[in-house]
Amino acid sequence: MTWLVTGGAGYIGGHVVAALRAAGLPAVVLDDLSTGSLARVPADVPVLTVALHDFDAVLAGLRDHEVTGVIHLAAKKAVGESVERPLYYYRENVGGFEVLLRAIRSAGVSRLLLSSSASVYGNPDQDQVTEDLPLRPLSPYGQTKTVCEWMVAAAHQAYELGYVTLRYFNVVGAASRELADTGVFNLVPLALQAISAGRQPLVFGADYPTRDGTCIRDYVDVRDVADAHVAAARLLDAGKPAAVYNVGRGEGFTVKEVLAAIDRVTGMDVGYQVVDRRPGDPTSYCAAVDKIERELGWTARYTLDDMVASAWAAWPKP
Ligand code: WQD
Repeated sequence: MTWLVTGGAGYIGGHVVAALRAAGLPAVVLDDLSTGSLARVPADVPVLTVALHDFDAVLAGLRDHEVTGVIHLAAKKAVGESVERPLYYYRENVGGFEVLLRAIRSAGVSRLLLSSSASVYGNPDQDQVTEDLPLRPLSPYGQTKTVCEWMVAAAHQAYELGYVTLRYFNVVGAASRELADTGVFNLVPLALQAISAGRQPLVFGADYPTRDGTCIRDYVDVRDVADAHVAAARLLDAGKPAAVYNVGRGEGFTVKEVLAAIDRVTGMDVGYQVVDRRPGDPTSYCAAVDKIERELGWTARYTLDDMVASAWAAWPKP
């Protein structure tokens, strides 16, 4: 009963490996270390430094470690970069997944957990998004996640592969300094970076039709996200599901509310600087979480202040 975690040396993958171990589920990591780091992987977890495109090496890894299920997180995930380099994103995320699915089939593995993203919804019409909404991704990154969702559903139909797809909302926090998010692309890391450098965090637009004029998102702690993978792994072990779940708190916070949480946690009062809207940002959305609560028995435990506090505790300080 071994789980192969692709991207297990990454930010979310490292937390997933830790959660699997805490739950007593053996794990093996497959990671090309392009952005991942071995420091995130416990010493007793085997690491296969393999590119997803290498079919033979992936298949050998599945067979050598008698893998029974795969948790697939390895992907390129910078939305802006995906706009500049769409074909690269399709090659890495879609092409890499095609190779993995083929290797999974050849190895006779029957359980797959796919990491997806709220970006598959694009700019939703409603504030709270349910899993059955039509997928209208805006960025090439979101498109590749959508295509991967279709691929796994088609593989389920054709080959009886059991799968769970998890659509993460805005993931924040860290269980430890080693596991922290080192890519500074999202609101909380960008704000922490700014205040560490004595600058004011930027607010991308304060004229949205929301309660304080700034965009609303569903922020969820990476430790909760990791636990959702354990719950999904158990569902996969129990049968052959074909299920898609939102992973969020079901509660939206504005950018200004997140910055206020950062002030509370750090004890600083640095304020913020409002700049132009960032093109392509949806105004407001958060996850409907009834389905994951009902079917996986999973619910987020950590509050906004908890996740910001964990991100700050893991933030490198002089
Ligand atoms: C959150 C809010 C910004 C930075 C993206 C991807 C999504 C997922 C998570 C990958 C927005 C505002 C941000 C700043 C700001 N990615 N903001 N000042 O865009 O909701 O989601 O990351 O797996 O697919 O689309 O996240 O953290 O960039 O922005 O005001 O310095 O904070 O405008 O409203 P986003 P984000």
